[in-house]
Amino acid sequence: MEKIRVELGERSYEILIDSDNLSSVGERLLRFPIGKKIAVVSNPTVAELYGQRVLNSLKKEAFDVSLILIPDGETYKDYFWAYHILTKLLEMGFDRKSCLIALGGGVIGDITGFVASLYMRGIPYIQIPTTLLAQVDSSVGGKTAVNHSLGKNMIGTFWQPALVWIDVDTLDTLPEREFLSGVAEVIKYGVIWDAEFFEFLEKNRNKILSRDKNSLIKIIKRSCEIKSEVVSRDERESALRAILNYGHSVGHAIETLTGYTSYLHGEAISIGMVYEAKLSHMLGFLTKEEFERIRKIFKEYGLPINMPAILESSDIIKAVLLDKKNLQGKIRMVIPEKIGKMKINFEVNENELKRAIDD
Ligand code: NAD
Ligand code: GLY
Repeated sequence: MEKIRVELGERSYEILIDSDNLSSVGERLLRFPIGKKIAVVSNPTVAELYGQRVLNSLKKEAFDVSLILIPDGETYKDYFWAYHILTKLLEMGFDRKSCLIALGGGVIGDITGFVASLYMRGIPYIQIPTTLLAQVDSSVGGKTAVNHSLGKNMIGTFWQPALVWIDVDTLDTLPEREFLSGVAEVIKYGVIWDAEFFEFLEKNRNKILSRDKNSLIKIIKRSCEIKSEVVSRDERESALRAILNYGHSVGHAIETLTGYTSYLHGEAISIGMVYEAKLSHMLGFLTKEEFERIRKIFKEYGLPINMPAILESSDIIKAVLLDKKNLQGKIRMVIPEKIGKMKINFEVNENELKRAIDD
């Protein structure tokens, strides 16, 4: 079993990575100062595949377990379904020591963390992420959220989980597009933090794409190590944590303008990372060779790298102007200075961005 500690003082926790470990999560939870009541929050797709294993493991250790399902999909990550979960917890008499388990991808993780942060002003929760994206990104770091009709992830809290429990075997059933969407986030860690890891990803593409277990454990572990290091240094995103948003300024704009239906998150940020790298090259930071390496790695992993033809650069810029990182109407981005090193809160001129998109 691989173990990573997220150092956050009294809110520190472990990320445990293994294969075939869903049936032992109950035993692990006996170490935590939690009560007997546990609710597993999931959706029908994931519950059908892995719910029983997790529920049985908890029942075996005499936890009083219930399953709360919400429909599958990003559109259900909203206040109304959060309210539904809160109602169930009240009906079942959950108290401050009761615990939630998020069993699923980033949607389930985000809404479960959000509810855990609100119920009785905050109860413990465990992340059992089952998509690659959730295993390397959303389950770690304590950002919780639901969507508002006026904006994605606009209602949220920082609430750290008590444990992140990763079973790589759950990736066996993940559809290919969802898997690749997670790979985009993995490549992101190479660009923002670790040039050697980037090179490993370049050299081991076939093994990773064939979901070789050892390679998966290695890339999940390194991604979680990097995310933990960043979150430990800047939990509330006052500066450094913004590097995790590489590719997201342009990526979010693409998601918004295409109505969140054409591109998965990882696909949109793959395009975003390529264009933000291009911008960096045009500004004289990334060398031509490094920009080409970034473009090539996304292409070779089968991720999209081109701006959708239907989008105008002026629309992209309007959408980027709404990004949370901006200050006083000025676009601020995180852009790679070289592979493994980022420039944080870099002020970008609208014309420069336009040129990078149109060129
Ligand atoms: P998702 O949760 O919608 O999961 C994708 C699909 O895969 C769903 O249909 C799900 O039911 C299915 N699925 C999940 N695990 C499966 C498995 N093992 N086998 C088969 N199918 C499986 O999407 P996602 O990409 O995991 O997460 C996206 C969400 O994460 C977005 O809401 C995004 O805002 C959020 N996010 C949050 C953070 C954060 O720091 N909190 C970071 C990145 C993304
Ligand atoms: N996914 C971005 C962050 O956790 O900060």
